[in-house]
Amino acid sequence: MKGLVLSGGQGTRLRPITHTSAKQLIPVANKPVLFYGLEAIRDAGITDVGIIVGDTWKEIQEETGDGSRWGLNITYIRQEAPLGLAHAVLTAEEYIGGDPFIMYLGDNIIKDGIKDLVDEFRARGPNSQILLVRVPNPSQFGVAELEGGKVVRLEEKPKKPKSDLALVGVYMFDAAIFEAAKAIKPSWRNELEITDAIQWLIDHGYEVVPHLVTGWWKDTGKLEDMLEANRLILDTIGERVEGDVDDASTIQFKVVIEKGALIRNSVIRGPAIIGAGTSIRNAYVGPFTSIHAGCRVENVEIQHSIVCENAVIEDLPSQRTFRIEDSLIGRNVEIRRTDQKPKAHRFLLGDSSKVELL
Ligand code: G1P
Repeated sequence: MKGLVLSGGQGTRLRPITHTSAKQLIPVANKPVLFYGLEAIRDAGITDVGIIVGDTWKEIQEETGDGSRWGLNITYIRQEAPLGLAHAVLTAEEYIGGDPFIMYLGDNIIKDGIKDLVDEFRARGPNSQILLVRVPNPSQFGVAELEGGKVVRLEEKPKKPKSDLALVGVYMFDAAIFEAAKAIKPSWRNELEITDAIQWLIDHGYEVVPHLVTGWWKDTGKLEDMLEANRLILDTIGERVEGDVDDASTIQFKVVIEKGALIRNSVIRGPAIIGAGTSIRNAYVGPFTSIHAGCRVENVEIQHSIVCENAVIEDLPSQRTFRIEDSLIGRNVEIRRTDQKPKAHRFLLGDSSKVELL
């Protein structure tokens, strides 16, 4: 069995971060989202993995490499344009070569991994196995309708969903999916939808088995989902203090402080992670915060946020109202207070940046 990980797409809902970085490389608990999927595939006993890449191919390839660090054998497959998930499947037809495979959307994280599901698929051998999860907002996903435990209908982002069962971005297929993907027509958004291809399988008498996921699952396509995934993962990563923490600092609850991090006169209240080479001084880092490597955080209060590599945040007023919250701060970003006159807010913001001031 092979793995097919989709890591193309433009990440429009996460701009401006995705103007300069692939959405699959945004860190969750200081690790690219994509790596969680690769680890899940490895843990399911699959070693050959094709990664579908688009415009951001170079960055993904540089960061991910040949897969040897996970014991995987990774092949990169270029999709010339983002024409849909079923189009991505067709792009990989030669690589898959008739084997059954698991398709994993590179921005999805499933808490309990996929080992049991892959075992189930291998043992039962249907044409396809889909994962479903109950969600409060089904119209933002592909939605499945079941009758007597069987999938009868799938609809992509329906305005009036017929159930609350969303399609998780992890699918298992045999070679019948290629026939289906070739038979369907593009949707209103001009994409070959995998949802339509699976519906084609159902309509043509192929066996499509549903599996209800009970643990949490996150599609990290939007900021609040990204922050939630960060929250969920931070809650599971335990405690480890390898950095240099002075006596004037307090580390509370579950906190990971990587080697080479420097904590001075600060309170770090977990769950939180502080990356290597980052310095935190006179600061409060509150629950559910990930601060990546090489950052400087001084005279600041921050919580429930993700800070990417080499960001600098300093000297923000410390009243409660100035705490940074619910934020995703990109690489090399600088945020600071200044006494420069005239007194004003000064911004140098990329396209599609979002700033909310009090
Ligand atoms: C895709 C699928 C959708 C599925 C979702 C899961 O949507 O088209 O059916 O529910 O992934 O993450 P997209 O995120 O591409 O809008």
